[in-house]
Amino acid sequence: MNAIGGGIMTDVGKRGLLTELNEIYRIHDLDLSAVNLEICPEDTMFTKGDEDHYFNVGLSCLKSILLALSSAQKDKSGIKTILDFPSGWGRELRFIKAYFPDAEITAGDLEEGALRFCKDQFDAVPLLSRKDFSRITLVKKFDLIWCGSLLTHLNEDKALELLNFFHEALNEDGILSFTSQGRFSNYLLDSGKCNYGLEGAECQTLMQQYELRGYGFVNYLGAEDYGISLIKPSHIIKMTERNKNWKLIMYSEKKYDNHQDVISFLKEPVSNICMRPWLDRWIKRQESEKL
Ligand SMILES: C[S@@+](CC[C@H](N)C(=O)[O-])C[C@H]1O[C@@H](n2cnc3c(N)ncnc32)[C@H](O)[C@@H]1O
Repeated sequence: MNAIGGGIMTDVGKRGLLTELNEIYRIHDLDLSAVNLEICPEDTMFTKGDEDHYFNVGLSCLKSILLALSSAQKDKSGIKTILDFPSGWGRELRFIKAYFPDAEITAGDLEEGALRFCKDQFDAVPLLSRKDFSRITLVKKFDLIWCGSLLTHLNEDKALELLNFFHEALNEDGILSFTSQGRFSNYLLDSGKCNYGLEGAECQTLMQQYELRGYGFVNYLGAEDYGISLIKPSHIIKMTERNKNWKLIMYSEKKYDNHQDVISFLKEPVSNICMRPWLDRWIKRQESEKL
């Protein structure tokens, strides 16, 4: 079925592949025939002949979103506006679109060509991003934000800036899911199984910072503020617990493509965490007894 080696996979082959992959993810209410199979030749996330990996990433994104919804005790009918940021050329967007056909989906990225493709193929509203996230112009807020593999390229200051942008962009009670490179990525680097395109000395620096500070980052060669990050799960929590309106609903290691961790938050004041009526009544009784 797989076309690694340069062959071109037909649409029939791609549909068969999706069916096989979904036997792993078991997203039974996903209409696989609604998944757009068009892959842009400029898509830098696609390695020719490796549809297997490409579609696996997309399905694992959707599975992660559904787990976050379930943790938040929400169902898809409550999700009317979605931001996929960064969308790239729609590796994940095609699955989000197939699963949430009635939602309005916005695609955000720095690449204008990628945004054009997402608009043409998936009917996504384009949102041209900025290197400085605080300067992005928002015209609406979202019920769900998916961020596949962007924090993985940012230093800690930029990552915090991005999380602030997401907080701003979410509706109250909205869900954010993003990916991060954590303990498994550290293992891949340490064992020499993967170098994320870095030289040996940079890999060492990355792992040392990760050990010492919990957040490691090195720039790609010649790049500024864009490279590879490695973040301990405990450090992600530290970065986000300052914001009392983020309620952590999921931390799932290696959930994305059997590789990156997925972290999900609900935008809800921590003081709202108590949702049980009996506990509310108990707190009120305690308060009235104090009077
Ligand atoms: C690893 S790719 C992931 C794309 C997509 N989520 C996927 O999995 O196919 C990273 C993407 O981040 C985009 N990017 C880099 N800096 C950005 C920024 N400041 N704002 C929005 N997108 C950015 C790049 O253009 C690229 O498409």
